Amino acid sequence: MALHRLTSITLGVPDVTASSAFFEDFGLTGNAGASTSSTRLATRDGGEQVELVHAPTRRLDRIGIGADDANDLTRIAAVANRSSIAEIVESSSDRLVLREPVTGLLVDVTVADDYAAALSVHTFNRPGGEPERIDTPANSVLTHDPVRPSNLTHVVYSTPDQPTTLAFFTDVLGFEISDQIPGIIAFARCGNVHHNVAIQAGPVAYPHHIAFEVDDIDDVVRGGQRMVDADPDRHMWGVGRHAIGSNWYWYLREPGGTFVEYTADIDRISEQDLYRPKDWTGHEFLYSFGPPPPPEFLEPADLAELIAAAS
Ligand SMILES: [Fe+2]
Repeated sequence: MALHRLTSITLGVPDVTASSAFFEDFGLTGNAGASTSSTRLATRDGGEQVELVHAPTRRLDRIGIGADDANDLTRIAAVANRSSIAEIVESSSDRLVLREPVTGLLVDVTVADDYAAALSVHTFNRPGGEPERIDTPANSVLTHDPVRPSNLTHVVYSTPDQPTTLAFFTDVLGFEISDQIPGIIAFARCGNVHHNVAIQAGPVAYPHHIAFEVDDIDDVVRGGQRMVDADPDRHMWGVGRHAIGSNWYWYLREPGGTFVEYTADIDRISEQDLYRPKDWTGHEFLYSFGPPPPPEFLEPADLAELIAAAS
């Protein structure tokens, strides 16, 4: 596949300082308080992957995607040129910016290497066989260092025209659908990670959540607990394991209202033909085990405000 990962996002938030402080507590590296209009935060392995900009109500302005080489940009630009569901905003040898006309979302495709993930220091012992760790406690109980998310791994985006926004990602950009509940939500990928974007039907365009990959379940729990210990109102949903994608999750709420997920152990897919998705129906796809989702996860508390802002 020519595209291979998310490189960055631009998230509009009403209070850049407050949201920036949240993401720093979450484990990203930033410069909270340096600017009230915009700021950037870095993940451990992916560099500056989050840009926060001031907006009256929260919104997703831009998704950055990494391509293997310049030929990929040329090929996608040719498809976009013939398409009625993509507008070319900028096109050069190393950058292609497209606009999805329904929502105005910008997708910023640049030639980018894959990131080199730091190897996890965590070890796990299982019944039988040789232990991975012997004569020492687990690393995760010995450390008190904050969790450092490895990378921005997926974005879930609501749109009032789910089929068209989804087609923008599949037909124009070449994403493949890993799993879907047709007309409701589709999980699509541009590399081997089960989903980099999920496009869901909603009354207006808004970012439902953004997810950051951590090393393992230890870091999901350790990171989530640390965040809610500091402020219980941040808790949204978790800890649990999704059914679609199999990933562990703990969702928090950033001050702007977007949900932010620690996630680990998501499915990888080698080839579309080898992946056999289950036939998902109803809400069983939401999670395999863990506490049930709060109603606000399905219908964010600020949805009326977002609808009013869009009209
Ligand atoms: Fe997620």
